[in-house]
Amino acid sequence: MSKRTLISPHGGTLVNRIASPDKAKQLKSEAKGLPKITLSAKQACDLEMIAIGAFSPLAGFVGKADFERVCKEMHLAGGAAWPIPVTLAVDDAVKATLKEGGKAALAHHDGTLMAVININEIYPHDKKLEIPNVFRTEDEAHPGAKAVMDEGDWLVGGPIDVITVTPEKEPGEQFTEHRLPPAKTRQSFTDRGWRTIAAFQTRNPIHRAHEYLTKCATEICDGLLIHPLVGETKPGDIPADVRMNCYQTIIKHYYVADRTMLSVMPAAMRYAGPREAVLHALVRQNYGVSHFIVGRDHAGVGNYYGTYDAQLIFDEFDDGEILIEPLKFEHAAYSKKAQGMVSSKTFPKIEGDQIFLSGTKVRDLLKEGQRPPQEFSRPEVADILIKWAQSV
Ligand code: ADX
Repeated sequence: MSKRTLISPHGGTLVNRIASPDKAKQLKSEAKGLPKITLSAKQACDLEMIAIGAFSPLAGFVGKADFERVCKEMHLAGGAAWPIPVTLAVDDAVKATLKEGGKAALAHHDGTLMAVININEIYPHDKKLEIPNVFRTEDEAHPGAKAVMDEGDWLVGGPIDVITVTPEKEPGEQFTEHRLPPAKTRQSFTDRGWRTIAAFQTRNPIHRAHEYLTKCATEICDGLLIHPLVGETKPGDIPADVRMNCYQTIIKHYYVADRTMLSVMPAAMRYAGPREAVLHALVRQNYGVSHFIVGRDHAGVGNYYGTYDAQLIFDEFDDGEILIEPLKFEHAAYSKKAQGMVSSKTFPKIEGDQIFLSGTKVRDLLKEGQRPPQEFSRPEVADILIKWAQSV
C-alpha cells in the first residue's frame, strides 16, 4: 500500500459545518425565535454541499466581495479559484424579516429545519453580473440562467451551522448507502490503498462512450469513482433513482469491483458548461480525487457552449491553483471498422463509420421498447431504461 497521501482539499482544509449533537440541540431551540428562510431545491443542495465540505473552502453562502470577484474573475475575494457563486437568494418579503448581524433558520420545503445562518450581509442580487458571466448567455431558455432570473432580488451571505442535510424525503431518494461525504470517500480511498483516483461526473446513464472514458481513466489511476450528480436537475433529465439502478447494474456486469467505487454527489446541476466543469473538478478534489474526467460539452445544455470549452477553461488558471488534474477526452463513439470505441485522436475519420445516436432518437427507441444498438448502450442498462421510458 502506498504511503503517499491523498490530494489536499481546495484551500487546504476540509470544511465541516455539521453541528455536533449538543450544538444541534441548542440551534433547534434557538431557531424557534428566528425568521425563517424556506430553501429552494437548489439552495438545499448547496447547503448540503457546504455542510459536508464538498464546497470547501466555503463555510456558508457568499457575501458581496466573493460574489463579485467570482462572477468577474472566477476567484474568491481571498484568492482561491472559484467559478460559480454559491448564493442564498431571497425575495423582498423575506428580506424584510432579516437583518445584518442577526440569524435566520433555514428550512427545507417539506418544513424540516436544516440549519441556522449567521447573516453577515444582505445585498442586492446583481443578476446582470451573474448570469452573463456564469452562463455566458442571457437567454431565458437556458435552464441555469432562467433559475437565477426566477430567484429573489436579495442575497444573504454568511456562515451556516447545519443540523441535518437529509430532510424527511421519500425513502429511497437519499441513496443513504452511497451518500458519502468527502471525509468518508477520502477514508474509503485510503482503506482501499488508492492514492490516484479518477472521478466521473455524470447526470446520465452510463452509455458506451461514458464507459470508454471511465476505463481509459482507470488504466492510469489506482481506482475509479463513479460520482453521479443526484441533486436538482431539469425536467426531462432521467431521474436519479433510475440512473442509480443503471450504474449499479453496469458496474456489476462490466467493471472490476476492486477498482470501482460508486457514490453520489448531492449537488444541483447549473448547466453552466465550462464554469461548472471547474466547479465539478474542485468539488471532486475535496472528495479526495486526483484526476477528473472532462469530455465533450461537459455540463452543457443545448448549443450554448463549444464542444471543448469546458476543457479550455482550465487553461485560464495559473499552475497550482487547481490541484486536481483534468483528464480531457475528445468526443468518443463506436467505430464499425475499428470494432471498438474511438475518438478523432485515436482513429481516422471515415464517413459513416461511427455510431452516433441523438438523445431524442434514443428516447424514441426506448419508448417503443427497443434497445439502442449494443455499440451505444449495454443491453442490461437499456432494459432498465426501457422499463422507465414506458412508465412515464
Ligand atoms: S454532464 O452534464 O454530467 O457533463 P453527461 O452525463 O452526459 O453530462 O456527461 C458526463 C461526462 O462524460 C462529461 O465529462 C462529458 O463531457 C462526457 N461525455 C459524454 N458523452 C461523451 C462522448 N460521446 N465523448 C466524450 N465525452 C463524453
